[in-house]
Amino acid sequence: MAKLFDLTGRVALVTGGSRGIGKGIARGLAEAGASIALASRDAESLASAAKELAPIGPRVETFPTDVARVDEIERMVTGTLEAFGRLDILVNNAGTNRRGPSVDVSEEDWDLIQTVNLKSVFFACRAAAPAMIRQGGGKIVNIASLTSQVGIRGTAAYGASKGGVLQLTRSLAVEWAEQNIQVNAIGPGFIETDLTEPMFADPQRGPWIQSRIPMGRRGYPADLAGVAVFLGSAASDYLTGQVVYVDGGFLSG
Ligand code: NAI
Repeated sequence: MAKLFDLTGRVALVTGGSRGIGKGIARGLAEAGASIALASRDAESLASAAKELAPIGPRVETFPTDVARVDEIERMVTGTLEAFGRLDILVNNAGTNRRGPSVDVSEEDWDLIQTVNLKSVFFACRAAAPAMIRQGGGKIVNIASLTSQVGIRGTAAYGASKGGVLQLTRSLAVEWAEQNIQVNAIGPGFIETDLTEPMFADPQRGPWIQSRIPMGRRGYPADLAGVAVFLGSAASDYLTGQVVYVDGGFLSG
């Protein structure tokens, strides 16, 4: 059974891998045996994340990339293929948010959120798919959200982008099913990271979130690692177009 989840010889590219959920997922994939291509904007934090991950798996390389730019996304994928010779697992994790009432959302806020959270996912998939098709298959894991499924106050632009990620996941899953590329998504619940720190610290929202999670605790990046390994491995070969919510029961409550 362990063989089904073994990623030895596989190469995984994780965007937004310098911290938070991306780093937690990269760590899990490395523990399962994958070599890791780590991408995010800031070269310094990338280097420090790579140093942390290096002893865990066979190999880590960093690719400083702004996923808001399609040319940089293409360079990230080309660089991965040049460095490792293959690409088996693409984790589209980089994401951003600007929370607040919709009446205060500017056009710039909207464009940034859609570009980083949704447009980048499509163009990273587009850049990676030809190599996966040549190799005979691959795994794409997009990071969706509870807001792919339900409305949460103050997150309309973000929710629209993550709803888009859900639909993109389904559409590409169908389009590339015959090429043996499985396209799935993880929908994290409330996970403690830099992105959610202000929400947990808010005297009203923090306790509200806590009270709404049936398991009674927030999540941590390590909580996502097992599902990422599952979706990146042969264990999920007949699963495509799905979102796995890792939310402590939130959506069932
Ligand atoms: P984080 O803010 O800790 O990390 C985000 C990562 O994305 C960082 O490495 C950052 O450098 C990178 N990034 C942001 N903009 C980028 C850009 N333009 N180009 C390249 N890299 C960029 O956030 P967190 O919480 O780890 O989020 C990761 C993903 O999980 C995001 O897609 C987020 O929407 C999603 N998510 C997070 C939840 C949570 O509770 N933390 C819940 C649901 C979804």
